[in-house]
Parts: sequence; structure tokens; C-alpha cells
Amino acid sequence: MEETRNRLSLTPVLLLTAILACAGCGKEPAGQNAAAKAGGPKPIVVGSFLSLTGPTATFGRTTQQGIALAVQERNAAGGVSGRPVQVLFRDNQGKTQETGTVVERLITADHVVALLGEVASTQSLTAAPIAQQYGVPMISPSSTNPAVTQVGNMIFRTCFIDPDQGYAVARFAYDNLKARKAAVLYDQRQAYSVGLRDAFTGWFKKMGGTITAVEAYSSGDSDYSAQLGRIRDGHPDVIYIPGYYTEVGTIAIQARNLGLKMPLLGSDGWESPKLTEIAGNALDGCYYSNHYAPEDDSPQSKAFVAAYRQAYGTTPGALAALGYDAANLLFDAMTRAQSLDGKDLAQAIAQTRGFVGVTGTITMGPDRNPKNKSMVILEIKNGQPTYVTRIQPPDEK
Ligand code: PHE
Repeated sequence: MEETRNRLSLTPVLLLTAILACAGCGKEPAGQNAAAKAGGPKPIVVGSFLSLTGPTATFGRTTQQGIALAVQERNAAGGVSGRPVQVLFRDNQGKTQETGTVVERLITADHVVALLGEVASTQSLTAAPIAQQYGVPMISPSSTNPAVTQVGNMIFRTCFIDPDQGYAVARFAYDNLKARKAAVLYDQRQAYSVGLRDAFTGWFKKMGGTITAVEAYSSGDSDYSAQLGRIRDGHPDVIYIPGYYTEVGTIAIQARNLGLKMPLLGSDGWESPKLTEIAGNALDGCYYSNHYAPEDDSPQSKAFVAAYRQAYGTTPGALAALGYDAANLLFDAMTRAQSLDGKDLAQAIAQTRGFVGVTGTITMGPDRNPKNKSMVILEIKNGQPTYVTRIQPPDEK
């Protein structure tokens, strides 16, 4: 054991590189398995299904980096009750059919004790009934659509939900930007986007604002000029676009080309270094709601940012932080669970109280959502998301 611990802690960067390079290749990296090979205690095997390639690839990749860092730190500190943790990462390419296939295989062939994933709500909604059916606990780090955890008692998340996120953007638009007229352009193929359309329009109207237009697009579209033209006719003060970064980047450029100069507003699906790579400066002066900002100066956040920078050479965003929190919350529950059987493990996750994470302190509610997590609003300045303010969830739902 001692020898294993030293070996793991001496090579964090190498180990992380091995874990990440092998993701999705079917074979597992040697580093993670060191304890088993050295005759040490058997690793606890967890499955993680993420979009490591495809149109939401940065969601999967950064989440994976956060999870891998948590695993490496945990194993260096002795693992979970003396056993190392091994995470099998599987790429669903951002496709629901692949999600079904890899999740089923992780459960029936790899016999994972728990699942970490997905980011996009539509993917989590595909996986959740499978996990529930087999009685394997699943924690989504970052899927915000309310229906995900409603699937059953095996399904949890570590993030806030969209009714609160839609409120935060409406509040910010109405109070801080003094917007009174808003248009919405949403992705009709994503449960996430449809839910946010409803949350934002409901709250904005309740606050006294007017919705001038609600227009739809589909993931993968490339021409948004018809919808943007109709939106322009209503002269909104802001346009809310609760989509994912690939489409939003293109929409921003087309909106500016059509002479739409007002701030564009978004939500966590904007979170990607690719967003402004695609949009250039078309999103400067625009805002989005998010789970975390690396400017957060809590001790947990500072330690996480330092460790992440050392491991990967970049500053972590919300997805890395949520992946890290989801993995650590799972390990914490494992140490409290009566056994690693699905029922016992789910019960321990459900009993999580005051877990101090990077994205906030997590107490699981009876609906298997963390209670009362707050949101941050970021402004894009010179292509960089910058912290503006923090917004608490509404008292009244
Ligand atoms: N909340 C989004 C969804 O449910 C996923 C997401 C979370 C994307 C955090 C980026 C950052 O689909």
C-alpha cells in the first residue's frame, strides 16, 4: 500500500496524462491500475460517460480533467477506505444513441459501482433511466434540466437547476441592465434550452418585462438570419440565447452582421474556450449565468485553481470545477456508505450534508438536487469571461 501511494503521488502529471490520453480507447491506462497490479487492494471502479469529441467536446474534456484531478488527489491520499479509485472514461461523441450504448456497457460489462455524467441534459436524460433500472447511482456534475433527477432515487446532480438559472438571467437583465423588452432564441433539440426558454420568459414577465419574440433553431443549424430578422422587428433591449457554445458563437456573428447591437444573454451552455474562438469580438459586452468563476477566493477554490494549473497548465472553468466536486462528493459518500451496493451508495449520496466543494457547499435535498446553490453572472470582455456578480436563487419558486 505504502509503495503504491508513493508511486501514485510522485507522478501526478504523468498519471493524469495517461488517464486522459487513453480516454475512450477501450483500454485502461496502466497508472490507474497500479495498486491492483502491485497486489494491493482492488480498485473501486466508477464509470464516466462524457462528450470527449463532437460539437460539445469541450464540455466533456474539461469535466474529465476535473474528475481525473480529484481521482489523482484521492489516490495519493490513500484512496477510499484504503482502496484506490479507478474511473473508466467513455466517449459518447455527444450523441444520445452512443450514450445509451456506453452506459449500458459500463454497467453490465465493467460492473461500475457508480456513474459520473453527463454535462448536456439531453444526454443525462438518456442515461438516467438505464442507471435507475440497474440500480446504479449516477451523479450528473452539470446537467441543469429539472427532469434529470426526477427519473428516480438513483439519480443526483451537483449543480443548480434551470428554473433558478433562468431567474438569475431575468433578474440581471431587468435590474442591472434595466432591460424591459427581451427576445428569446432557443435550441428546440435540447431539453436544457427548452427549459430555460420557459424559466426566463416566465420570470421576466413576472418582473414586469415584455417578451417581444420567441424563436427556435436546432443543434447543428448554420443559418439563423430568418429568426434574427424577426427578432430585430420587435426592437428588444436584450436577446436571451440559452444554447450551447458552437451554435451561439455563430449566432452572435450573424446577429451583429444584421445590425443587432444589443447585449446577448446566455446561460452555462456558453461556457467554453471555443465560444469566443468562434465569435471573435461579437460577444464583447454580453453576459451569461454560470456555476463558478475562478476569481472565487474561497480556500477550496484557491487550492483547486492552483492544483489544476499545475496539472494542466490552464485555469479551470465551471465544468472542471463541477466534475471535481461531483467526483469528490461521490468519494465522500463512499466512505459513509454501508456498502458499495447501489442502494447503500445512493442512500449515502442522498444523506450528503454540508459537503464543502469548489462550486459551493452542497446539501442534497429530497429531490436529489443540491439545496440553494447560487449562480454567478459573467461578462465577456475582450473575449474573456469576467466575474460580475453573484445571484441567489429566488425564495419563491
Ligand atoms: N447545464 C447544461 C445542460 O444541462 C450543461 C452545461 C453545464 C454546460 C455547465 C456548460 C457548463 O445541458
